[in-house]
Amino acid sequence: MFPSTYRTTALVNGEVTVAALPFPHEALGAGTVVIRPDLMGICRADAKEVVGSRDIPTDRGPLFGHEFLGPVAFAGADTGFREGELVTFNPNVTPNRTTGFAEYVFVHGTAAELDQAVIRVPEPDPAWMPEPFACIVHANAKLLELTGLDSLAGKRVGIIGAGCSGLMFALHARHLGASIVVFNRGESRRDFAQQREILTAQEIHPLADAESFRDTFDVVIVVPTIITPDVLHTAATIAAPHGTLHLYGGTRSTDRFPDSTLDIDTIRRQELIKPLTHQAKPLAVSGAYGCARSDYEEAFRLHTTHPEAFPLERLISHYITLDDFPQLITDIATSTRDFPGKVVIST
Ligand SMILES: NC(=O)c1ccc[n+]([C@@H]2O[C@H](COP(=O)([O-])OP(=O)(O)OC[C@H]3O[C@@H](n4cnc5c(N)ncnc54)[C@H](OP(=O)(O)O)[C@@H]3O)[C@@H](O)[C@H]2O)c1
Repeated sequence: MFPSTYRTTALVNGEVTVAALPFPHEALGAGTVVIRPDLMGICRADAKEVVGSRDIPTDRGPLFGHEFLGPVAFAGADTGFREGELVTFNPNVTPNRTTGFAEYVFVHGTAAELDQAVIRVPEPDPAWMPEPFACIVHANAKLLELTGLDSLAGKRVGIIGAGCSGLMFALHARHLGASIVVFNRGESRRDFAQQREILTAQEIHPLADAESFRDTFDVVIVVPTIITPDVLHTAATIAAPHGTLHLYGGTRSTDRFPDSTLDIDTIRRQELIKPLTHQAKPLAVSGAYGCARSDYEEAFRLHTTHPEAFPLERLISHYITLDDFPQLITDIATSTRDFPGKVVIST
């Protein structure tokens, strides 16, 4: 039923390789689900792990190869899954799994763990990546919870970063009733967002122009690859007094808000909200991290019931093969090449 070998990738000391390994028949235990990915997404976090610029949480392990979807190829007797079910993966539950950049992915756990980590896909043939969208759904729900807001209706939301995450924040905040403006440093992602009709010309601006939006936004979502002091200063500048800066990506353990002792990495990873006074302006700083099974369910519901509001398929900019992957991720990680939107590996 299974081949004698299967192809998988390895990341060792910053080098990415793809090779055929013996199929581990001994791994097919009662608590194992094996998934055969049809689609695998490349995330900025994968590139960060290649160059070692990401702090890896021990409770869930490396992210390298965490966005994928495909059928269950094997379901152990105790897993609660069936062969052939279309599933995707939540990397925030267990480190006990192999990389998703492979022809087969092995996830091990108790029935309760697998119930959270392996998510049934209710759509027949999705051409979009559920995990990053579930993280956005989670992050906006967390924003509302932390700020005590009932909704984003009528709120002005600024977003720094038009990467995949920034664009999905824009779609979701707009759907929740906010008016949105996205700021991106480079031209390529600004053009991509307009060409794919994800944002209008009024909704996307150069980051260099952000200061003309001084004191404007009720919420500023900060979502670039790395959160630099300059980015934080810009975010604080464009926030309205008593506004909230919501941090999503790009913090490291030693990061502090400029001119303060505010530990922004802990705020993000522990999903806290803290007051901050920046240049005499009262603000709050909040953060969000990861997602749960319920966020996937909401993500699928939104995509199914509001396909025009969530054209997530249009975020995919390139399809590649597993053989193309080692060179491409190395080029992305070393900034030799850069792609707007989402690059996916298709089998
Ligand atoms: N909280 C979570 O659970 C979670 C989940 C997924 C991702 N993330 C994090 O979210 C961040 C964005 O991810 P993504 O998928 O959107 O990445 P992406 O598609 O690769 O986009 C990266 C974005 O960062 C911008 N950027 C990079 N360096 C910058 C700098 N020095 N100053 C200003 N902008 C800069 C890029 O702008 P240019 O076009 O100008 O290069 C681009 O808009 C990453 O840090 C990622 O790790 C967090």
